[in-house]
Amino acid sequence: MSSDFLALAQPGVQKLSPYVPGKPVDELARELNLDPASIVKLASNENPLGPSPKALAAIAQAAAELTRYPDGNGFELKAALAERCGVKANQVTLGNGSNDILELVARAYLAPGLNAVFSEHAFAVYPIATQAVGAQAKVVPAKAWGHDLDAMLAAVDDNTRVVFIANPNNPTGTWFYADALARFLAKVPDHALVVLDEAYIEYATGGELPDGLKFLADHPNLLVSRTFSKAYGLAALRVGYGLSSPAIADVLNRVRQPFNVNSLAQAAACAALADTEYMVASRALNDAGMQQLEQGFRELGLSWIDSKGNFIAVDVGREGLPVYQGLLREGVIVRPVANYGMPNFLRVTIGTEAENTRFLKALTKVLASG
Ligand SMILES: Cc1ncc(COP(=O)(O)O)c(C=O)c1O
Repeated sequence: MSSDFLALAQPGVQKLSPYVPGKPVDELARELNLDPASIVKLASNENPLGPSPKALAAIAQAAAELTRYPDGNGFELKAALAERCGVKANQVTLGNGSNDILELVARAYLAPGLNAVFSEHAFAVYPIATQAVGAQAKVVPAKAWGHDLDAMLAAVDDNTRVVFIANPNNPTGTWFYADALARFLAKVPDHALVVLDEAYIEYATGGELPDGLKFLADHPNLLVSRTFSKAYGLAALRVGYGLSSPAIADVLNRVRQPFNVNSLAQAAACAALADTEYMVASRALNDAGMQQLEQGFRELGLSWIDSKGNFIAVDVGREGLPVYQGLLREGVIVRPVANYGMPNFLRVTIGTEAENTRFLKALTKVLASG
C-alpha cells in the first residue's frame, strides 16, 4: 500500500503551490513547431543584451578547473563585492541566485509558530520560503499596487522574525523612497530581520530609489539582497548575494550548502561586476525600451503601472490569460500574473527595440482579434 506523500508533508508545504516560471523558449518551440530563434521571450526579467563578453571569457578560463570544487567561501567574489559595496567581506553572503539568500533567511529565522510579513503582489518566493519551513505568511494589502509600509509595520508582532520588502517590487515595478524606508527601519523592532530585496536596483536610474547599503551601518537587523541575474545578465548561472551585519552573515553561513555558488558563476560574477560598460549599456537599453513600451501602450489605450525595474505590468482591460495565450501563438512569451492577484495584467520584460516592436505588434493583433 502506498502512502499519501502530500499528506505526510509538513502542513505549510501541503498548502504551497509550486513556483511557476516563465515559459522556456524551447518548450514553446516544441509545442507550436516553431523555430526557437523566431520566438521572443519577455517573461523572466532577463537581460536582453546577452551576457557580458568579459563574463564569457572568465567562464572559459574557469572551465579548465571543472574537476575541482568551487571556493566554498567565495573569497574573490566576496572581496570584489565588499569593495564595491563599501562593506567588509564578513558582511557578504553568497547565494545560488538571490533566491537562495531568501531561503537561507527563512531556514535560519523562521519556524512553526513564527511569521514573516510581506505585501500583497510581492515576489512569489516569499510565501514559498516562509511556508516551506512551517512559518505563517502575513500578507499585508498593497496600496496603489505598492508596499504599504505603515500597514506592514502594524502587522509585525512578537512572533515576526522576517519582513520581506522589495524595492522595486516584482511584478508591479512599484517603489518607495529613502524617507519612507528610513521611517520604516527606525520603527521595525529588533527581533524582526528586514530583507530589503534589491534584485532590480541597478535599473533604478535617476537616483530616486534609496541605496539600501546606506542603511546597513545603523540597522543590524537589515539584510540587502541583490543578484547577478538581471542587470548583470547572468541568470543561468544562479548567483546572488546578501549584505548584512556580520552576525546575520554568520548565521546564514551556518545553514547554506558548503558549495552553493559554483566556480563558473563566481568567475563570471567577478568579471561582470568589473564590466562598467556592460552595465551602462544594460541601463540605457532598459530606459529606452521602457519608453518604447509605454508609448506602445498609450497608443493602444492601455494603462500600466509605472515601473523602476526591467519589466512593466500592463492592464490589458480584460482577463490576461487568453491574451497571454494569444501572444504565445504569435511566438511571444510574456508573463500572466493572475497568481499575483492581478488577473487583468500581463508582466512584460523590457527587450531589445526589435523584441519590443514584435511584442507590441503581436499585442495589437491579439487585442483586436478578441
Ligand atoms: C524581486 C525578486 N527577488 C529575487 C529574485 C530572484 O532572482 P535570482 O534568484 O535569479 O537572483 C527575483 C527573480 O525574479 C525577483 O524578481
